[in-house]
Amino acid sequence: MTLQLRVYVPPHPLIKHWLGVARDASTPPPLFKSAMVELGRWLTYEAIRDWLPTEDIMLQTPLAPCPATMVNPDVQLVVVPILRAGLALLEGAQTLLPVASVYHLGLVRNEETLAASCYLNKLPKDFNPNTRVIITDPMLATGGSIMLAMAELTQRGIDPALVRIISVVAAPPALQKLSSGYPSLTLYTAMIDEGLNSKGYIVPGLGDAGDRSFGT
Ligand code: PRP
Ligand code: URA
Repeated sequence: MTLQLRVYVPPHPLIKHWLGVARDASTPPPLFKSAMVELGRWLTYEAIRDWLPTEDIMLQTPLAPCPATMVNPDVQLVVVPILRAGLALLEGAQTLLPVASVYHLGLVRNEETLAASCYLNKLPKDFNPNTRVIITDPMLATGGSIMLAMAELTQRGIDPALVRIISVVAAPPALQKLSSGYPSLTLYTAMIDEGLNSKGYIVPGLGDAGDRSFGT
């Protein structure tokens, strides 16, 4: 069986709405940040609906015994936000997954070469190979940052088939790199945009997601 990167663009009206708010150049930073938090929440909702392992149990209501389906308490769930811009998406994801462990990864692109480098790595030395990982990074542009994040995770024992990426806008160069490097991955994004401009920004995109989230 040939594996192929799975890319989902959920047709949820709230995802479309908050993407519109984020794209609008007149949106001020506090509202932009709120849009990112909401996108993190709704894209995570979509990403986990068929993905969280459950178990069937019997419990006791105040009135009678009753079957119930609960999230398996043994599941190892991790969120890896790519700083800075992935932090606002993390906030939304955490409203749904408050018990997930969070491991921060600080990556930055060189503005001239567009090469990504790591300035903060809070990942543990090894992960349990059954760990499920959500990576939050709103912008997948050249793909350098997300490929670096995937390399850091797989070096530590993470299975790409157990990774779901949450992004807001994804561009073809990043999708091509992910597809050839990690075909078993799954990506949830609010939109796939046309391409990049000469400075490596996604067009139409939404500008600099980190600066707009934090008002810098
Ligand atoms: C942005 C964005 C991604 C990266 C995508 O981060 O949040 O992590 O660029 O670009 P790429 O696909 O070409 O690597 P940036 O380096 O601007 O840092 P920031 O989040 O701190 O603003
Ligand atoms: N990083 C951003 O913040 N925006 C882009 O369009 C590309 C990379």
